[in-house]
Amino acid sequence: MKTIHLWDLPTRAFHWLLVAAIGAAWFTGEQAGSWMVWHGRIGILIIGLISFRLAWGVVGSTYARFANFVRGPAVIADYLRGRWHGHGHNPLGALSVLGLLGLISLQLGTGLFATSDDSGFNGFLQSLVGSGLSERLTGLHHLGFDILLVLIGLHFAAIVFYTHFKKDNLLKPMLTGKKQVERGEDARGGRWPALVLALLIAFGAMWAASGAWLPPPPPPPASSW
Ligand code: HEM
Ligand code: HEM
Repeated sequence: MKTIHLWDLPTRAFHWLLVAAIGAAWFTGEQAGSWMVWHGRIGILIIGLISFRLAWGVVGSTYARFANFVRGPAVIADYLRGRWHGHGHNPLGALSVLGLLGLISLQLGTGLFATSDDSGFNGFLQSLVGSGLSERLTGLHHLGFDILLVLIGLHFAAIVFYTHFKKDNLLKPMLTGKKQVERGEDARGGRWPALVLALLIAFGAMWAASGAWLPPPPPPPASSW
């Protein structure tokens, strides 16, 4: 057996920050009222995290790259027949990774245009759509979160299943970055220039989503008194 570097630090930092941020978005969204200001801030943080991960999936190190783990049905079938011996996300697990990233992105998209009647807090781009569409997107934001909870539950169950029944501890590499394998190579690439590029993309997306570029709302009409 030998030890390889599997998950680079940015991928691990992304994962655990995402777990904390989704928990905080859940808490603040359910509390509503004055917590919604924080819900919006945390939402922008999650936009940064997801944009970072999408960029890192192209310029990051070996096992973090989408090209390394997003596979077609033939490879998934091979995996199910026990004929896949790679490292990183397995071809089936990759579907759950894509599902989580995709659903969180939709959740962010609907949140940005959502309206909250009770707290007066609106998504930062809500003024770009009519009130009818905003209400429908708010409905999808509620529904999307329920589906996300199911996916997160399955994700957690899969990690427990692999640890206890397949005797493959996936959690340790996501914490330490290292994995014991019979054969395999260290992750390569994903150096400083790639990190700077991915961070720039993340900050650009956070700025675009914050609506800072929108013209300020018109002042309220002057009172007749
Ligand atoms: C809010 C809850 C969670 C979300 C949204 C989430 C999301 C994700 C995502 C997107 C990935 C892919 C990582 C990447 O390639 O960037 C991942 C992988 C992983 N997550 Fe989570 N996660 C959550 C909770 C947890 C928890 C509580 C654990 C610990 C038990 C966990 C353990 C793992 C592990 C071990 C992997 C690597 C799986 C593999 O080796 O293929 N996650 N998670
Ligand atoms: C992945 C990130 C997000 C998650 C997990 C999330 C989750 C939630 C949850 C659980 C609720 C309460 C739903 C309910 O009571 O049934 C909520 C409400 C809301 N969220 Fe998010 N949210 C996210 C991102 C965002 C973003 C980026 C914005 C916009 C800045 C946003 C705007 C809103 C608004 C305006 C409401 C109130 C809707 C209402 O009062 O009906 N959310 N969100």
